Amino acid sequence: MKTTLRLDRYLSQATGMPRSHALTHVRASHVTVNGAVVRDVAKHIAADTDEVLLNGVAVRPFRHLVLVQHKPPGVVTSTEVGASQTVMELIPPDLQHRDLAPVGRLDRDTSGLLILTTDGALNHRLTHPKRHVDKVYIANLARELAPNAEDRLARGIILDDGPTLPAKLERLGPLTVKLTLREGRFHQVKRMMVALGSAVLQLHREQVGGLKLPDDVKMGETRALTEDEVALLVGGGDGEA
Ligand code: URA
Repeated sequence: MKTTLRLDRYLSQATGMPRSHALTHVRASHVTVNGAVVRDVAKHIAADTDEVLLNGVAVRPFRHLVLVQHKPPGVVTSTEVGASQTVMELIPPDLQHRDLAPVGRLDRDTSGLLILTTDGALNHRLTHPKRHVDKVYIANLARELAPNAEDRLARGIILDDGPTLPAKLERLGPLTVKLTLREGRFHQVKRMMVALGSAVLQLHREQVGGLKLPDDVKMGETRALTEDEVALLVGGGDGEA
């Protein structure tokens, strides 16, 4: 099926400019479609075949952005500008887009893998509670967990907002654990560890779905995911919804 959309919407989606700016450019004869100046913003553009130029520069059809960020501690997962630095401010200028939103959130003091996307359907798919997308965390604990912690987590533990889904615990050392959760509730890892008798001193997310934090994305860096990486990301849940 051929996808068409209005010229002003095409320009706005492709460049991130408001539709009112797109209108101004079109009215000022800055835009050509397949070589001819078009002054009608309602003209329908076939995204895959029409060639649109703005001031002589090709405007390519919009493709959703899916970014991976290695979030440092101290940065807030928010799209609101405030006193603290946000994850949005770590996105390089060439990857900025007004529709980018974080997929779920990491606490200010948590580091690691954060996905950001313009694709609302993908965001929903990765965060919907019934999708059960795995999230893998490394936690440094204040106290060693009791020997029955693995069993308790596998059975699910009761938090103040209800029982948790079964989670997997691996001990990487006396005070370091790897925890795999299939849900993403507020402060969930910290609350689960407190329920088992220990505060979390440091928390790092190393995987979402089948995607591990890529080695080349250093702390504070953000880059676009490849198509293969996006496939890993969405391949990691049980798909129930
Ligand atoms: N669980 C937490 O407690 N904090 C996070 O940032 C992520 C999961």
